[in-house]
Amino acid sequence: MKADLQWGGRFVAPPDAALLDFGSSLEDDLPLAPFDVACSRAHVAALLGGKIISLETAAALDTALAAIATEIEAGSFAAWAREQACEDVHGAIDQRVRDLAPTAGAWLHTGRSRNDQVSTTLLLYVRARAASAKQECAQIVQWLLAQADAALKDGTMLAATTHWQPAQPILLAFWLATAAEMFLRATRRFDRVESDAARFAPLGSGACSGSTLPLAREIAASQLGFAAPSRVAMDAIGNRDVALDLLHATARALGEASRVSEELVLWATPAFGYIRLGDAASTGSSLMPQKRNPDPFELVRAHAAGAAGLLQAALASINGLALSYHRDLQETKAHVLRGVERGLGALHAFRLALTYVHFNATQMNAHAADGYTIATDLADALIAAGASAREAHEAIGAQVAQAEREQRALNVSDLAAIAEKTGRDISAAPLDAQASIAAKRTIGSTAPTHVAKAIASMRAELAGLEEPCCGGHV
Ligand code: ARG
Repeated sequence: MKADLQWGGRFVAPPDAALLDFGSSLEDDLPLAPFDVACSRAHVAALLGGKIISLETAAALDTALAAIATEIEAGSFAAWAREQACEDVHGAIDQRVRDLAPTAGAWLHTGRSRNDQVSTTLLLYVRARAASAKQECAQIVQWLLAQADAALKDGTMLAATTHWQPAQPILLAFWLATAAEMFLRATRRFDRVESDAARFAPLGSGACSGSTLPLAREIAASQLGFAAPSRVAMDAIGNRDVALDLLHATARALGEASRVSEELVLWATPAFGYIRLGDAASTGSSLMPQKRNPDPFELVRAHAAGAAGLLQAALASINGLALSYHRDLQETKAHVLRGVERGLGALHAFRLALTYVHFNATQMNAHAADGYTIATDLADALIAAGASAREAHEAIGAQVAQAEREQRALNVSDLAAIAEKTGRDISAAPLDAQASIAAKRTIGSTAPTHVAKAIASMRAELAGLEEPCCGGHV
């Protein structure tokens, strides 16, 4: 099918079909379709407000656009646009309007360029996706905090690691609070993107310098939920900052998800046994009958890499571009849409997979003190008794080495030996994981009172973020 292009009047020869195909962004653009309809309806309002089109024309355009919105939702529009070999989703919607309302349709693109249309549509898309990503992250935080509450009640402990080596005993609630902070920041990042995407409406900026037609830009801007029309046309049509910010926020949220996933993948191995992933989230092997694999968390790790790669591609595509619109921006947009669509899908899967995680408190508690995780507490006790940090580190290190040689945990005999060697009494030092955790004093520590405060503070912060940021949009 020959494309019905929005340009071509000045050309004598038809475009090379392969190059036209190379230049098509239809497949990449399709997620933008509902947002282009909203943008086009606002443009109709701006044309009407400026008395550029009649009330009848405006009504006919609006009816056609409403019909297209229904076709988009039903999925028939995408099939139609492919069949027509449209150059992009914006041209496709314009063509479909001309199909449905031939006389009025010829007026839709008045005073409009695809440049201001693409910029505006992309902002609407960014705002909607940022809002749902924010919700997704907020729900992850809620799940983590609910689990943290329960784990705090049970007092479940585990050995925190650094370098994957046993480090210090912590509460499971503290580990969950750590993950909650990560996703609270992710929530906040999407919140910022959402409100940034509601500031200036590019619509009415034309190709790059504005229009001689009296477009009622304020009407369009407010209909689309923007605070104001953009201030500088050439910036408005070439600006992709918020779209890049959304992809960045997506890549970062998946980055956090990948770190939690890494831990859960390991925790699900029998060697650790810290969690069991429910059947509904696990997969088997086609050969080994015993296998239960934590695939969703492995895929999330890989999706994080994909999103980071697309962010890199999007950032690189915009470097060195002169001001205004250049066709490279079509690829910037493609990277953003691909990264965000796939990324948010992965984030959703991550949240779902989390709900199938069952913590094995017995196993965690049993190993909380393994690997001499209380050694720091003994060094701290020596310091409290007057030793310098260096002296304490040395003395406890030697004692750990001895216990290791004797293949046993640190115990009261070590406290006595240390007192003997250093002349300092540390008989009140914690000797088990529970005492170690309870002895922590600093704000933000793993001690139950601090963890409870952190949970309450995060809940309050989350409630503030969950208030709607900007209304009146698609
Ligand atoms: N498909 C193009 C894009 O998405 C539409 C804008 C084309 N503008 C232009 N001046 N050729 O970027």
